[in-house]
Amino acid sequence: MTSSGGRHVPVLLKEAMDFLRIRAGGTYVDCTVGLGGHAEGIVRRLGPQGRLIGFDRDPEALALAQARLEQVRDELGSRAPEVTLIGEPFSSIASHLEPASADGLLADLGVSSLQFDEARRGFSFQADGPLDMRMDTRSGPTAAQVVNEASERELADLIYENGEERRSRTVARAIVRGRPVTTTGQLARIVASVVPPMKGQRIHPATKTFQALRIYVNRELDEIRALLEAAPRLLKPSARLVVISFHSLEDRIAKDSLREGARQGIWKILTKKPVTAGEEEVEQNPRARSAKLRAAEKEGQETRNR
Ligand SMILES: C[S@@+](CC[C@H](N)C(=O)[O-])C[C@H]1O[C@@H](n2cnc3c(N)ncnc32)[C@H](O)[C@@H]1O
Repeated sequence: MTSSGGRHVPVLLKEAMDFLRIRAGGTYVDCTVGLGGHAEGIVRRLGPQGRLIGFDRDPEALALAQARLEQVRDELGSRAPEVTLIGEPFSSIASHLEPASADGLLADLGVSSLQFDEARRGFSFQADGPLDMRMDTRSGPTAAQVVNEASERELADLIYENGEERRSRTVARAIVRGRPVTTTGQLARIVASVVPPMKGQRIHPATKTFQALRIYVNRELDEIRALLEAAPRLLKPSARLVVISFHSLEDRIAKDSLREGARQGIWKILTKKPVTAGEEEVEQNPRARSAKLRAAEKEGQETRNR
């Protein structure tokens, strides 16, 4: 999701709704409610017997989504479904849902435009802000604590593993020399001083280091693994899972997990290749360029009791 002309636009909205195959009266889970774009799409299709359960560990995002979804429910009146929002990491999903209770599960991974565009949240090198990067601002170490307290070796490893930055050792050395590092601008300058810009590419030399710190601070890869492991137990037979990822580490985890599940007879894969955004969407919403959607259906006979 990104902002375009001040609007927050959900990525691959139509595709996500189509793959989720939303049925009136069903129970659907949006694991990453964010600003509620996809969630609104689900709520509009659910009908009065339906239920949306939404997760987001960012309290600011959840409050905005709550207001947006309340407005949609008011508009729908007696046709509005039930909406429950939960301010926890989606890895806790199994403690909120009964086994085999969900008809569909969506995860639109990564950061929202609210998080990325606000300098004070410390995700972006475009604007100078405190080096924070926590999605959940109530807990956990900030990116500043990580860069200032980890050893050079630990920093190099985490930048390599979470950012696929080939110059991770050089970057880690420069960070340690530049300590204390307290702002996004300072970190971006330190990295740019040792990583040359990629020829012919517009991406900032600090992109991979920022990605690595963000993933590390928010334990993003562990979160995705936990969700993919829990999903088959929570979905009804024939229910759908849709995962939208924005970088190769996330996408690889989703791809490998679904393939392994298919091998074990758990999933039927619906997207042989990941679905990507068309030119028009990318033009309106540049963040959609790197989005990859994978969908799968849980194997087994559907019981029609609705
Ligand atoms: C890309 S945005 C989702 C945008 C949303 N689909 C929309 O249409 O507005 C991702 C959101 O997921 C949240 N998030 C990321 N990882 C999470 C996790 N492990 N548990 C809960 N929320 C998470 C982030 O805080 C962020 O608000």
